[in-house]
Amino acid sequence: MAGARVLGRQPGASQLPYYRSWPRITSAIGLDPAAETRIGALVAQLTLEEKLGQMIQPELAELTPADVTAYKIGSALNGAGIWPGGDRHASAAAWVDTVDSYWQAAREAYAGRPFTIPFLWATDAVHGHNNVYGATIFPHNIGLGAAGDPDLVRRIGEATAAEIAGTGMDWTFAPTVTTPRDRRWGRYYEGYSEDPQLVHAYAAAMVRGLQGGADGLASDRHVIATVKHWVADGGTVDGADRGTARCPEDLVRNIHAAGFFAALEAGAQAVMVSFSAWEDPANYGHSPGSGEPYNFKLHGSRYLITDVLKRAMGFDGIVISDWDAHAEVSGCTIGDAGYAINAGLDVLMVAGRAAWQSVYHSALRDVRDGVIPVARIDDAVTRVLRVKARAGMWHKPRPGERSLAGRPGVLGCAAHQALSAEAARKSLVLLKNSGGALPLARDARVLATGSGVDDIRKQTGGWTLSWQGDDVTRADLPGASTVAEAIRGVVGTGRVLVDPGLTSADPARFDVAVVVIGEDSYAEMRGTLKPWRSLAYADLKLSYARDLAILRRLRGSGITVVTVLLTGRPLYVTEEINLSDAFVVGWLPGPHGTAVAGGLFRPADGQPAGISGRLPASWPRRRDLAAVNRIPPHIPGYRVPP
Ligand code: BGC
Repeated sequence: MAGARVLGRQPGASQLPYYRSWPRITSAIGLDPAAETRIGALVAQLTLEEKLGQMIQPELAELTPADVTAYKIGSALNGAGIWPGGDRHASAAAWVDTVDSYWQAAREAYAGRPFTIPFLWATDAVHGHNNVYGATIFPHNIGLGAAGDPDLVRRIGEATAAEIAGTGMDWTFAPTVTTPRDRRWGRYYEGYSEDPQLVHAYAAAMVRGLQGGADGLASDRHVIATVKHWVADGGTVDGADRGTARCPEDLVRNIHAAGFFAALEAGAQAVMVSFSAWEDPANYGHSPGSGEPYNFKLHGSRYLITDVLKRAMGFDGIVISDWDAHAEVSGCTIGDAGYAINAGLDVLMVAGRAAWQSVYHSALRDVRDGVIPVARIDDAVTRVLRVKARAGMWHKPRPGERSLAGRPGVLGCAAHQALSAEAARKSLVLLKNSGGALPLARDARVLATGSGVDDIRKQTGGWTLSWQGDDVTRADLPGASTVAEAIRGVVGTGRVLVDPGLTSADPARFDVAVVVIGEDSYAEMRGTLKPWRSLAYADLKLSYARDLAILRRLRGSGITVVTVLLTGRPLYVTEEINLSDAFVVGWLPGPHGTAVAGGLFRPADGQPAGISGRLPASWPRRRDLAAVNRIPPHIPGYRVPP
């Protein structure tokens, strides 16, 4: 293991305690006895059908406002890459109108009743309000980890919440507080760090920013935060996505749950369960003899959801399932979530129309047959109503009438874009700077090359307007700049030649080559590397091998070489480093190539100087070192896994 900068000592990182058993959490947003009485009275008046409606969360493309009225549905989400009317450039006003129409449908569902149950809209705003055209896109979490600045993270949460509220929505599926321990995992970059201490500090900061405390949450400027994915999603064998963790419970608690402890203390109101499994005898099957043996999937884990999270830790908010993930549990099918509901799920995110209707009807049958106890349903609905009350949903006007909804100057506003650029700049990490190659002179003649130098997708990564983020174009990201464009802005168009494949340029005509290399955009599933794959950048794809060939050619030409790596994870790049005079890791910095270029050049007056980020993850010095991590100092007798 070789970290160029000292890992885990980021300024602001908290000292993490060691937990011998699951800690009781005291949430910043505690129980309100008067509200509990009101909620209890309301639950007592609900029919079984009304209760189940609160527990089903369908997806925009598979749900109409008429369905919301008919099934008395309590919440909906828009999946990644799903937009109103299928329009990827849908405006804030179009989003507000859409959310408003579902909100209205929920109101009509209760027209004949003496009370209403307000509706919630949820979205994946995981690096800014990233599914919405014109929103501010921030660096992915791994880059924020490198910035080592919890207050920056809080401010990003606040800005993101305002933009979500600006589209009439109430709830985000963020932050991801995973502690990723294997670089092959395609969701590595969704985590802040391999270091539970840093995850712990950041999780609280992001929740505070998104929710704004008890008062903020009740206002229409903040949103409900969801910590995900409970638990040990980053601890699966070989970094398999949706795979199996086999670590002892002590490490589930002290490495993988660290972010949850802090986030729940800060008042996070929702927890999303992980697709993965935890294979351990403690993770018992709670309905023995009911079909196939329990396959340890978290969605069926009564131990981790009910016994640990709800009872031992005292979490009183919503436990939501991941997208159709109940179907991963051996006792369930896509249309039957009974076993998972009995494990403790409160809201079921079920995407397809046939599936959510079937989950609804099979749960109805199970309750009538006594397979799902009414007390379990009441627990779920009480939690949903509690969170709705805390989020002020009975007081907020319809989405279109909220203070930020559709208002100009919120979505993608200059202040938020500046914050994104600040974060991207702070996330840069310098791995090498021989002979003072950096900073570059502002009048240098620059050869801008490499596969990432003029490709916005390599900067923004997955979960950007679409799920995998690989179809994003410049037209999707107003105000964005590639690194090449940003260099032109610094040195002037006449002093830079942009030749990504180095097909025509003569290096001898330039003072420096800025070579931007990096991973193609990916998200969950697609970004995961098979266990037998090498972690060497140039081994991963032919186009990446061409980047290495460019570096070899440049080295041969004698020009000063400055390399920037855009990546969601540490990769083996020893040869690339050796071929460069300076080497910078830019992570997935987002749309502001200006921030990356800003770190390379001598600052103009009033601009920040230098590169200050620190590695949030160990850097591999061999191509097979996928799962080497800092030894967590807070865990007594920690043994490095074989
Ligand atoms: C992901 C979650 C996400 C959900 C909804 C799932 O595939 O695992 O992180 O919140 O989709 O988009």
